[in-house]
Amino acid sequence: MQASVMPALGQPSHFEVPQQVVSDSRVLGYLGRALSLEFSTGQHYLAQASLAKFRNEPNHAQGFVALANEEFQHANLLIDRMAGQGALPSSSVLSPATPANSIAESLQSCQIKKLALIQLYTSACQYCANASFLEDHALFSRLLEEEQAQLMRVNNWLEEFYRSMSSNQSLSRGFA
Ligand SMILES: [Fe+2]
Repeated sequence: MQASVMPALGQPSHFEVPQQVVSDSRVLGYLGRALSLEFSTGQHYLAQASLAKFRNEPNHAQGFVALANEEFQHANLLIDRMAGQGALPSSSVLSPATPANSIAESLQSCQIKKLALIQLYTSACQYCANASFLEDHALFSRLLEEEQAQLMRVNNWLEEFYRSMSSNQSLSRGFA
């Protein structure tokens, strides 16, 4: 079971800093960009959760909070890897959360955030595979798979919403 980023909710993550640190500037660059994107996406999910609460959609709000927690777990893994290479996060630049007037708009904006992460991790995986950085490749591959799985969940969530809207419209027409 993965450690929580919230100290009160789980055990702190554990890793051993290697005695001989070999770091690659491009790998560190990928780690830094990924960290900014993960935090930005987590922030965006939390903003969508708040908007859903104001629309009185508690189930959707809960879904966004769950997704945000997964992004902060990804940030945790990235910082572990940075520290393992003798580095720490520098100043992260976050992209702003964007507004949405409906759950559909929220989910569409989340799809865009997911695609940016998938693109970054695909590139990082290719670089690490070519350079034979096995541990970094393993981390970026894991993150890529988890982002792809999250995108599928967001896609299914959106499809489910559209299905419920169309069945409600059919019901309305049926009662008319
Ligand atoms: Fe993530």
